[in-house]
Amino acid sequence: MPQLLDSVELERAAALAAGPRASFVAGRLALRRFAAELLDVPPSDLTTHFSCPRCGTGPALAHGRPGYMLRGEPLPLALSLSRSSGWILLGAVVDPPAGAQIGVDVEDPSRLGFDGFDAVALTPAEQAHLAGLAGNALLQERARLWVRKEAWLKMTGDGLTTGPETLDVLCRPEIQDLPPGEAGLPPHLRGAVAVARPQR
Ligand SMILES: CC(C)(COP(=O)(O)OP(=O)(O)OC[C@H]1O[C@@H](n2cnc3c(N)ncnc32)[C@H](O)[C@@H]1OP(=O)(O)O)[C@@H](O)C(=O)NCCC(=O)NCCS
Repeated sequence: MPQLLDSVELERAAALAAGPRASFVAGRLALRRFAAELLDVPPSDLTTHFSCPRCGTGPALAHGRPGYMLRGEPLPLALSLSRSSGWILLGAVVDPPAGAQIGVDVEDPSRLGFDGFDAVALTPAEQAHLAGLAGNALLQERARLWVRKEAWLKMTGDGLTTGPETLDVLCRPEIQDLPPGEAGLPPHLRGAVAVARPQR
């Protein structure tokens, strides 16, 4: 039901090839329904209100941190979305205190088996942490670190404007690894959620 999407979302979808377009539309529909169900409002009443660290915030923006408006007011939700290998992970904080944000990420470890990943994605301490791992154990641990990074970078809103090789995520209490199979994901995917909860 792409007619549930706003015109800026449909314009972004139209610019994509068929496969990525289907994935984008599915994610945006799922996110809109998720937000609407959490607040018990019709999904068609929501209008997009995304935020990008470079481009700003507003209804004309089709990328960046997700958000919606309802009848002229921002929804009382912090939201995050991730897609990987045909799966979608959604996260939310309902009625977040000022400044509270969430970031979620999901990844298929089999996509991270290429040479050079560690050098471009990991800090020296993280690379040392992987020393001695090989095969599936290496891919699993790479993926665990990667989803922790992307969850963190979505939580802060910086995204990959911050170099992932500069962000150490070995020990950050705001980030939780999702156990295998959590949130309805298949057990071979790795997921993480990061939540910043400013003191009230
Ligand atoms: C978001 C990002 C960290 C990870 O993306 P990815 O692994 O390719 O894809 P995922 O499926 O896990 O996540 C995509 C979702 O992240 C969210 N997202 C994008 N930018 C975000 C940001 N700055 N803060 C929080 N969430 C963001 C969106 O919900 C996006 O979904 P969409 O495709 O429906 O818009 C990375 O793509 C990124 O940093 N992109 C933006 C870089 C940027 O700011 N460029 C400047 C644009 S002008």
